[in-house]
Amino acid sequence: MSDSRTLRTGAMAIVFLLPVFWGTFAANAQGGIPPAAQSAPQQSWADPSLDPDTRADRMIDQMTLDEKIQLVHGAGWGVLRAGAPVAQGHNGGAGFVPGIPRLHLPDINLADSAVGVRMAALQGRYATLLPSVLGLSASWDPDAAFLYGSVIGRELRAQGFNMSIGGGVDLIREPRNGRNFEYSSEDPILSGILVGQLARGVQSNHIMGDIKHYVLNDQETGRNTLNALLTPRALRETDLLAFQIAIALAQPAGVMCSYNRVNGDYACQNDFLLNRVLKQDWGFKGFVLSDWEATHSTVKAALAGLDMDQPGDDNYFSEPLKQAVLSGSVPQARLDRMVHRIVRGMFAAGVIDQPPVRSVVDPFRGRDDARKIEEESIVLLQNTGGILPLVPAKVRSIAVIGGHADVGVLSGGGSAQVDAPGGNAIDPKPGTSPWGVPIYFPSSPLRCIRRQAAAGTNIVYVQGDDPTRAAKAAASAQVAIVFVTQWMTEGKDAATLSLPDRQDDLVAAVAAANPNTIVVLENGGPVTMPWAPRVKGIVESWYPGIGGGQAIARLLFGRISPSGKLPVTFPATESDLPHPQVTGLAPRTGNNGADASATHNQARDFPVDYNVEGMAVGYRWFQLKNRQSLFPFGFGLSYTHFVYSDLKVDAGASNVSFNLRNSGARAGDEIAEVYVTLPASAGEPFRKLAGWKRLHLAAGESRTVELPLSPLYLSIYSTEKNAWVRPMGDFLIEVGGSSANLPLRHSLHLAASALVTANQPKP
Ligand code: BGC
Repeated sequence: MSDSRTLRTGAMAIVFLLPVFWGTFAANAQGGIPPAAQSAPQQSWADPSLDPDTRADRMIDQMTLDEKIQLVHGAGWGVLRAGAPVAQGHNGGAGFVPGIPRLHLPDINLADSAVGVRMAALQGRYATLLPSVLGLSASWDPDAAFLYGSVIGRELRAQGFNMSIGGGVDLIREPRNGRNFEYSSEDPILSGILVGQLARGVQSNHIMGDIKHYVLNDQETGRNTLNALLTPRALRETDLLAFQIAIALAQPAGVMCSYNRVNGDYACQNDFLLNRVLKQDWGFKGFVLSDWEATHSTVKAALAGLDMDQPGDDNYFSEPLKQAVLSGSVPQARLDRMVHRIVRGMFAAGVIDQPPVRSVVDPFRGRDDARKIEEESIVLLQNTGGILPLVPAKVRSIAVIGGHADVGVLSGGGSAQVDAPGGNAIDPKPGTSPWGVPIYFPSSPLRCIRRQAAAGTNIVYVQGDDPTRAAKAAASAQVAIVFVTQWMTEGKDAATLSLPDRQDDLVAAVAAANPNTIVVLENGGPVTMPWAPRVKGIVESWYPGIGGGQAIARLLFGRISPSGKLPVTFPATESDLPHPQVTGLAPRTGNNGADASATHNQARDFPVDYNVEGMAVGYRWFQLKNRQSLFPFGFGLSYTHFVYSDLKVDAGASNVSFNLRNSGARAGDEIAEVYVTLPASAGEPFRKLAGWKRLHLAAGESRTVELPLSPLYLSIYSTEKNAWVRPMGDFLIEVGGSSANLPLRHSLHLAASALVTANQPKP
């Protein structure tokens, strides 16, 4: 399995369900001439005015059985595993499917690209590191998500790739999950919209997009064998809903099924998930590809809906599939359908008509885009006494402490790791950024703080490894800014929510020495902050990307006003969580999450019972149990103030309007949030996010905000009717600036229930 990867270095027809926000390598590899240009009259599929289904069918009619088999599996581990053969035409990414030159069908070159294009160093290329997807989601900005995806698509195209494997949309059920930084949020609607927009941005560059890991790959501990349990209704209304929305928005070429089991069956051979929900109910037209070595069978997987086996060395979909087709245990029609889905996706994305053109990635444009996204994503969590923004004329001395802020910003690990330009900023060495090591990118907050501060300000930097030394530096400065980090990676969950490496002690020591202490977090997910009452400022910067240093410094000095809101609850203590410990992870002493965590490849097979919280994921759980979080979902401060008034809801609950006023002295963005509590008969006694709008208001400006409400978000999933139903009864609609601060309330009665959509009966 993946543990032996020694070189891991590196819209369906349900449009009305959609939310309100809209805000040549392959050819060269085969001879240098784009296939379209070579089209001969007998290529009846070459006409770009034909629909992708017709074009795919016409091409498939010309394929031999061997050619079809060749398309439904990858060509092996390639560059991911030292010593593995690398096929001709392989572009140095995570996956490769050879094309069919005689039909001018290009190769598929797949690249991991969750937060930027991975493994650029091996080829001597550059790739932009974006903020984490979790960070992006704190912007709640569908346009920023589109921009994010378009940076990835642009750079993939320049590097000669034609398929992205990113688009993580698993819900954050487990705040210690090592991959939360690749995911979006704990809310299905926020996640679905943001990741769907991200995938649209990728595909706007004629790159095949992907949404992953389908589904309930919500922790890394035991991920290859664990059995995630969740009732069908809860699954539909939470984790599946995020996928449903993202897939409807983006219509991606691919959906990657996950390693784990779901209610007994492995996700990549799970008939319910693949055939029934994804393809039949949602009408997904693309192909299902396995996560790397997540396939467990030939006949069962093929019949359950898996269309492509990756990376392919396991041979389930090579000769054994051919034999299964010849013997009739997998019908020929099923193989044709698998191939159809793949080739159709290639036509639909444009990778055949407009193959990638190799060019030089623009690092400056990438950094500017990354910084812009980060500036919308930073969340100001605490600002006691208005310590922020720092006023250059008034701050004469600053102690910057810890987090390697002198050299750079932290990034997340695993298959989302982007190679750092110049190597790891804290340990520069030539080559790719190695697997299993925290990698810092050269965007130094210290340097950027120096640029923002007034000339003559005394700014010192001390490392964070010695609290006594740090406290001494803090004591002799007017303001202390402590950078704390939490490194997270694929393959490992944090054992606890505590910051690793005794950084809590560091902050406590600095805060005791200097009353004007500001903490800046660079982290992969929620952490606890026992020192919160003793510091004045808390700034959540996530993994901030290559423009991170600038964005952080600009925010600290008030060049921009903070506008991000938390996409995930920050618990005060782990005992408040539905699962006080990561399931399957033996408790250990110490608070070093990385060291004390279990890895995915431990051969274990255990249930993870998500029925404990069921539909009450994240903030819903805290409301249901009446527990106070440290910082609630949807929360974030600004340098200005917003006042909400005049809520109106139309009689059918399809539209809300309210007034929003910037009552402060400076311009700023506000994310206005709308929550709905369904009638008691729904059995969901908690509010759920149903819409939001991000707005820019000048100082003193007042605006009427109109927000349509999708009927889907007022509905429950009826497993009897196999459909979404908007229940009848009393609804409560609440509006405000955080899930825990909703000043506007409106109750309304809807007399009759309504079927929101019929499922799409198409295999
Ligand atoms: C990860 C996927 C990734 C694949 C290829 C797997 O371990 O779970 O997200 O795309 O490797 O690198």
